[in-house]
Amino acid sequence: MAYEPVLTRYVREPNSFTLEHYLQHQRGYEGLRTALGRAPGDIIEQVKASGLRGRGGAGFPTGLKWQFVLKDTPKPKYICCNADESEPGTFKDHVLMERNPHLLIEGCAIACYAIGAKVAYIYIRGEFYHVQQVLEAEIAKAYAAGYLGKNIFGSGFDCDVFVHRGAGAYEAGEETALIESLEGKRAQPRLKPPFPAVAGLYQCPTAVNNVETLCNVPPIVLNGAEWFAALGPEKNGGPKLYCVSGHVKRPGVYEATMHTTLRELIYDERFAGGMLDERPLKAIIPGGSSVPLLLPDELDTPASFDHVQKAGSLLGSAGMIVLNDTVCMVWLAQNLLHFYRHESCGKCTPCREGGDWLYKLLQRVESGEGREKDIDLLYGVASNITGKTLCAFGDAAATPVLTTIARFRAEFEAHVREGRCTIPAEWRARQPMLAGHH
Ligand SMILES: Cc1cc2nc3c(=O)[nH]c(=O)nc-3n(C[C@H](O)[C@H](O)[C@H](O)COP(=O)(O)O)c2cc1C
Repeated sequence: MAYEPVLTRYVREPNSFTLEHYLQHQRGYEGLRTALGRAPGDIIEQVKASGLRGRGGAGFPTGLKWQFVLKDTPKPKYICCNADESEPGTFKDHVLMERNPHLLIEGCAIACYAIGAKVAYIYIRGEFYHVQQVLEAEIAKAYAAGYLGKNIFGSGFDCDVFVHRGAGAYEAGEETALIESLEGKRAQPRLKPPFPAVAGLYQCPTAVNNVETLCNVPPIVLNGAEWFAALGPEKNGGPKLYCVSGHVKRPGVYEATMHTTLRELIYDERFAGGMLDERPLKAIIPGGSSVPLLLPDELDTPASFDHVQKAGSLLGSAGMIVLNDTVCMVWLAQNLLHFYRHESCGKCTPCREGGDWLYKLLQRVESGEGREKDIDLLYGVASNITGKTLCAFGDAAATPVLTTIARFRAEFEAHVREGRCTIPAEWRARQPMLAGHH
């Protein structure tokens, strides 16, 4: 039977973002009403039983994260919704916020109730000005209708939701850097432990959850944990949004279950509809720019957290970047390091200095001026960043170098040997993505 989208079913309808549409078509705020009739601990148990895993990158079980939030304390507790969405190749959360904002608002309120919080902050990417406008207008409508504010549904539960716009830094998406930024400081990561569940926002117990993660909560409360778990492979249940970009016919955000294979996402008419200009596939980055490459012989891997990990990469944020045979892998690494060296917050030396050196070395190899020993040097510098920084940014910055050398070392060697990029110039010129970079 064809899969019926849960999170994005109505997003193409002109009024999908309105409260009226949400109430009429998505059983709007019934999940919250149901949740408030039950004990907070029951909601956590239900989310645990559903197997919902965080959609922000790490795939950590959401119910467990909520359970870890320190309950036995007089301090306030907080939900921080991570709407920073800055990973290259990732563009799903803004669709949910712009076209189905009440699903997120309701998810925030249920999450607050579950962990004993009264306030949720939605930390939104600085560039999403328009999305912020939509969210704030719809939050105001939720207040006016009594779905937010004091004594919701006469239950005695109070809940406020605030939107806070960042200033455009990728690092602000890392959960402790996000908390620092919310507190008005520079977005730099904290030393962990203590984890946010114990000492997060204003040193109070906090759960940081991705937009898509929270959007899954109302449907779980309404339809049950078993329904959710049964939608996907074991431990990979529920609906999933995939951002397919790069050299495909129809780039976009596609909702599917995690049974769906990488091949289907790229070639199937329901999804990206095949390779652009029918050119051959060279590689896929399956989880946003920070994860290892997969090759065409891994296309039958289901796009689930566990299957993609088993294949040697990560599902991450499910930002699938599809690359055809015109892409030079040295250029790819250089392009990504251009981003990472710019975005490093500078707190940890290996990331701040190493990222810059990686970029300079890649530039040298790519322009044909590299030396043979540069390839091992690149590998060595990247290996010395991995695992040596306060947050996962360091690993993310090293990965494009490590994975391109591991999978396409011959291309690096050819650049050094021939003193030029070995991808035919006319191929590169035909690709707008590559034009101007060679
Ligand atoms: C450098 C960096 C950037 C990140 N950016 C985001 C982001 O934009 N959105 C997001 O949800 N998670 C991001 N994360 C992951 C968060 O730290 C965190 O794991 C996530 O918000 C947890 O939510 P989840 O459990 O619902 O996935 C980032 C992590 C790192 C290291």
